[in-house]
Amino acid sequence: MSAAPLRDFVAGFARLLDRRPGEADILESGGSLLRGLVARDDWLPEAFAQPDPVRYQQYLLHADATGRFSVVSFVWGPGQATPVHDHTVWGLIGMLRGAEYSQPYREHDGRMAAAGPPVRLEPGDVGAVSPTVGDVHRVHNAFDDRVSISIHVYGADIGAVKRHTYPAGGGRKPFVSGYANTQPPDLRRT
Ligand SMILES: [Fe+2]
Repeated sequence: MSAAPLRDFVAGFARLLDRRPGEADILESGGSLLRGLVARDDWLPEAFAQPDPVRYQQYLLHADATGRFSVVSFVWGPGQATPVHDHTVWGLIGMLRGAEYSQPYREHDGRMAAAGPPVRLEPGDVGAVSPTVGDVHRVHNAFDDRVSISIHVYGADIGAVKRHTYPAGGGRKPFVSGYANTQPPDLRRT
């Protein structure tokens, strides 16, 4: 398995952010980079594609040394779902394998309510979240009988960001997601 696609993606994303683009530019230009990464499914090492029987997994693939962005593989076991949650920073979601649904939520009468139809992401598709374009959603594996994997990029070290879940009864709860792994993959040229 070659590390080149992920390494080139990380380098390209760092070059994009070197230009100090605004969020709209990041979502568009970075979205194009991510679309290129998930256009092929031959580069994610097996260690970062492992589901867990109890809950979805978030594996850190790369953390920018200056904290500008992080890249994460989300691995969904059959039928697994997130709670309703926010991000507080921009995020890009690229579907690598399987499929997932993202249900947007918006505040309505003081509590979060589903807003509009869920968006289905197929392999190669890219979606975005942010406090500007819509930051609260619930995501689930579109399949009850197989693993799905999406590759996410966020404008921070997302595993360390203080954000929130939104319980059905109203209000919000603080949470910090962390990562399932301590070591990201080796992106060196070998
Ligand atoms: Fe999310």
